[in-house]
This record gives sequence, C-alpha cells and structure tokens, in this order.
Amino acid sequence: MKFFVDTADIGEIRDLAETGLIDGVTTNPSLVLKANRPYPTILKEICEVVPGPVSAEVAATDLDGMLKEGRTLAKIASNIVIKVPLTWDGLKACRVFRSEGTMVNVTLCFSANQALLAAKAGASFISPFIGRLDDIHLDGMELIQEIRTIYDNYPDFETEILAASIRTPLHVKQAAMIGSDVATCPAAVIKSLVNHPLTDKGLAQFVADWKKTGQSI
Ligand code: E4P
Repeated sequence: MKFFVDTADIGEIRDLAETGLIDGVTTNPSLVLKANRPYPTILKEICEVVPGPVSAEVAATDLDGMLKEGRTLAKIASNIVIKVPLTWDGLKACRVFRSEGTMVNVTLCFSANQALLAAKAGASFISPFIGRLDDIHLDGMELIQEIRTIYDNYPDFETEILAASIRTPLHVKQAAMIGSDVATCPAAVIKSLVNHPLTDKGLAQFVADWKKTGQSI
C-alpha cells in the first residue's frame, strides 16, 4: 500500500520524505487555510520534494471554473494530480482532464456508487472519506471494502482506491488488509505507526544490558 501524506505543511512533508516512505501528497482548501501561504508556492515546493502524485484541489464548483483552475494548477509540475469533487461537473471535468493526460483524484466520495461513477469517468484515484463516515456513526471501512470488491469485479477500471480522512493507526491497518491501493494520512498518524510499548521496553533493556557489558562497538 502506498502512503500519501495529507498536509499542505512543507515542513511536515520534508521531515517525512527523508524516510523514503512517502509516495505522494494530498492537499485540500482546509489544509491550505491552515498552512496560510499561497497555494501555487506550496504546491511547487511539495512537488520539488516529493516526485510522486501531489493532489491539488480546485476551488470552483462549476465545470468551466474547474477546467480553468485545474489547467492552471496542472502547469505547476508534471506530478500534479487535479482533485475534483464527486459531482456531475466534477465527473465531467475528470473526463476532460484525463483526455488531456492529467491525473485526477475524485474527492469527497461517500458511497460505492459514487466510486463506480468515478472509475467510469476514468479517475486516477478515488478518495473515500473513512473518518467522516465514522463521525456520523457509519462504517467508513465498509465503504473501502465495497469499492475494492466493485473495482476487482471490473479489471478494466484503472482507478486506484485512495483511503482518505484517516484518523487512526487502526484505519491504516484495516485499509491495508482490505487492499486499498493508497492511504493518505496526517503526518502524526504516519509517525505513530512506528510506536509500540514493547519496542520501547525492549530497547531500554538492551541499552541498559549493553552498558553493563562495558564493551563498545
Ligand atoms: C483527502 O484527500 C482529504 O484531504 C482528507 O483526507 C480529509 O480528511 P479529514 O476528514 O480529516 O478532513
């Protein structure tokens, strides 16, 4: 499973990119608001650090506006993926961008039928939002499973499942077990995956015992 980091904070991205574990980045208007810097600058910097897919979301909600904004964003770097909402106009924009050779991430997906439409529109990625479904007492992970089943039924679909709105390490594990192609996670969630109390305990013991040997390597 590929790891994308879900942030517009270049510091977080640089830090994680050093591990070589980051395959791409996703951004959205709320993350840009948090970063509080010009979006084109942020995207340019991210694309210089991460060679994989970098999702840049359009702000317009009508077809012409999405096409105009998407084409502008696509010029920033060759690894830009245009992110469009899962609406009729978003699906139309997806088709146009794909015909122009630009990758597309269809976002704000909350149902299997929406994911089916995105695949038929030629999306490169579909972003089902797990955490936001959990927030309203639905099962976000069940949606990932449904989409996996549907996409596997039709091998001609080229759309990758990009599990989004991930909030916990458990989400990451479950998405990987189901076979999500990608998980986009906040930096803190990715960093927390390394933690285990028995690792800390075991390491402390090894350090203490090594000291007692009086040896050095
Ligand atoms: C996906 O691309 C979105 O940016 C993101 O995962 C949304 O997550 P949230 O529900 O935590 O805001």
